[in-house]
Amino acid sequence: MNIGIDKLSFYVPNLYLDMTDLANARDTDPMKFHVGIGQDQMAVNPVSQDIITFGANAAAAILSQADKEQIDMVIVGTESGYDSSKASAVIIHHLLDIQPFARSFEIKEACYGATAAIKMATDYVRSHPERKVLVVASDLSRYGLHSDGEPTQGAGAVALLISKDPRVLVLEDDSVFFTNDIYDFWRPVYEEFPLVDGPLSNETYLQSFATVWAQHKQQTGLTLEDYAALCFHIPYTKIGKKALLSIAEETDEKTLERLMAQYEESITYSRRVGNLYTGSLYLGLISLLENSSSLEAGSKIGLFSYGSGAVSEFFSGYLVEGYQNQLHSVEHQELLDNRKQLSIEDYENVFSESLPNDGQSVSFADPVPYSIEKAENHIRYYRTDN
Ligand code: HMG
Repeated sequence: MNIGIDKLSFYVPNLYLDMTDLANARDTDPMKFHVGIGQDQMAVNPVSQDIITFGANAAAAILSQADKEQIDMVIVGTESGYDSSKASAVIIHHLLDIQPFARSFEIKEACYGATAAIKMATDYVRSHPERKVLVVASDLSRYGLHSDGEPTQGAGAVALLISKDPRVLVLEDDSVFFTNDIYDFWRPVYEEFPLVDGPLSNETYLQSFATVWAQHKQQTGLTLEDYAALCFHIPYTKIGKKALLSIAEETDEKTLERLMAQYEESITYSRRVGNLYTGSLYLGLISLLENSSSLEAGSKIGLFSYGSGAVSEFFSGYLVEGYQNQLHSVEHQELLDNRKQLSIEDYENVFSESLPNDGQSVSFADPVPYSIEKAENHIRYYRTDN
């Protein structure tokens, strides 16, 4: 039975900062951000939007009424939950009006969460072929003003519908996964921002890729020539390029050129959005599918997922005939183009805003279809477009 991604879409908040403005404000050469780390813009979220509204907006764009009746599980991969007990998936399930006899829960392992959710979803569909699973990867990537990680922030969500006979990408049962207990990036519950060892995180990302790639190659016999494209977790776009170049000597110049060209297509959106944490790999996949003109049915795509801490996985899939019909290229382009650019002063103000943590009431009139309408008595109430 073929199982995989039937539909997929992303949502990012409607504000952004240009990286030249950030560089100028931080006495940094803008080329460090645009070239050195490979980021042009950074998504910024207003206080009236959160991981739930990102996820609901991303999923609402792909779900039909029939899907809502067939979904048995809503799994949210996130490391930005604002409640240590209640899962954001329960609220997303409600906002999207998905049939009630469903499981809804959150899954966490840094940026790896959504990959674990997708793997759980494919296993579920294998034993319940008529049912579907909604996977949402939603995060706020925040390191703090003036921090080392500031240029690698971002925000947004990716929604993926997992089913049998998928119309976009059939996922192969060929995963190689790897766990390595380290402290490269972590966030104790009392910390607003993550604690990060930037150089160690880069090193572990690259080492993890080398490890799962080599093991995958050994187990499957697949080599670089077999892939039409490789997609990477993209905390910033330069690092995936480094990972790809780290295995360059395994192939010929022509193959490398082809894979590098596809890599550029996969980072088009991330360059304008920044790190989505658990959604980043899948934003890269959407960017590849929507921007590359040289992919076709049967094209094999390799995916490298990395979550600090650290868990990584390499797996693959192949494109289905007519996959282009399932994409939302025009809507996604509009979403990115219609965002409001913030000045550095506005960015710093928006970034510093937060909802009351003492139960006081606050209301918003954010026109985004799913957004926070009110927060009161420690409960967030959401505006829906139902
Ligand atoms: P930094 O110290 O600001 O930057 O940290 P740098 O000094 O290392 O420079 C970055 C690059 O810019 C270098 O290129 C410089 O040469 C270049 P490289 O040597 O690496 O090829 N550069 C310039 N290029 C052109 N013109 C110039 C110029 N100046 C310098 N004028 C760092 C960068 C990414 C470490 C920092 O922003 C950070 O800590 N970010 C957060 C951590 C992170 O993103 N880690 C990535 C791997 S871990 C991961 O992916 C997991 C994660 O997503 C979390 C999760 O799993 O939940 C983060």
